[in-house]
Amino acid sequence: MSFVKFLGIGSAAPEKVLSNFDFEKMIDTSDEWIRSRTGISERRIAEPDVASSDLAYEASIKALEDASIGPEDIDGIIVGTITPDFIFPSTACVLQSLLGAKNAFAFDVLAGCSGFIYALHVAKGLIQGGSAKKLLVIGAETLSKIMNYEDRTTCILFGDGAGAAVITASETPGILSSCLGANGDGWEYLYMPGGGSRMPTSEESVKNGSHFLQMQGKEVFKEAVKALQSSSLEAIKQAGITPDQIDLLIPHQANYRIIEAVRKRLELPEEKVFSNLDRYGNTSSASVPIALDEAVKSGRLKKGDIVVFSAFGAGFTWGASVVRW
Ligand code: UT7
Repeated sequence: MSFVKFLGIGSAAPEKVLSNFDFEKMIDTSDEWIRSRTGISERRIAEPDVASSDLAYEASIKALEDASIGPEDIDGIIVGTITPDFIFPSTACVLQSLLGAKNAFAFDVLAGCSGFIYALHVAKGLIQGGSAKKLLVIGAETLSKIMNYEDRTTCILFGDGAGAAVITASETPGILSSCLGANGDGWEYLYMPGGGSRMPTSEESVKNGSHFLQMQGKEVFKEAVKALQSSSLEAIKQAGITPDQIDLLIPHQANYRIIEAVRKRLELPEEKVFSNLDRYGNTSSASVPIALDEAVKSGRLKKGDIVVFSAFGAGFTWGASVVRW
């Protein structure tokens, strides 16, 4: 069986910044509350005519350049997203067209904030099973499009962005392990009620705000800490290493208090945990690949280092992966 490694990465975010001070003018909140309860200072917001595939395209072009290959060299595209351009067809198909990646199959993965980790796991399996050699794996979101900017318990948390990775069959190991999990009993804690077959869009569904993301933050918080810890430990065990061998943990960027709780449970020093949450907020599927791109570009993650990705999200879903960079 062949190994699978990263060949290139890239990320993109809209230019427009929405700061905590902007929110002070919009809703009953404060910069102090948001920073102390979440660690977020600002987030990026897409323009009305920008969809998730547009951010995915920008990130993908950078990842392809980084990998020194062209779109026609890609065998498949997998996009993790909860804010697809359309319910159907997939955002991956729209992206395939934008890129001109004529030789690629394309599909989306819907796994909440674990979307990138799920997509990576599936992509690794496809390569190891011999179905593909090079795949584009993406997390792309425009969460601002499903935010209720009158609900202070959710709208201050989320932002827009995309991260992309080219992964390839390899003779040497890159991805050392990968594991996924889910608990569907938690679906109602974080979801968008309207617009699907359960509650098709109607005048009433729009009036009720059913087309907005809804979350019971406290419950999600508790589950996130538990699952991020356990999935990280599972992936570390599967990789045949111990936590002290980790050079960097890149956890899903949802709340710095979640990240801190996980860091302490894994007994990692602060310098071994990457966070850019303060500048992007929670970008769901895009959070891990954007953070990965920044960790590499800033020199925090170097060739040969061992990095752990872990994520948790709506579903509930979770997953982790250990990679020798
Ligand atoms: O990507 C995976 C999914 N997302 C997450 O992992 C998010 C998980 N959850 C969280 O990060 C946290 O639960 C929140 C940041 C959403 C909320 O923090 P919390 O410490 O759990 O606050 P809370 O919900 O217990 O609210 C405490 C108080 C409430 O007021 P009362 O009832 O005590 O008077 C809220 O109404 O804070 C109030 N509050 C706010 N105050 C100012 C809630 N949102 C705000 C706000 N500004 N934006």
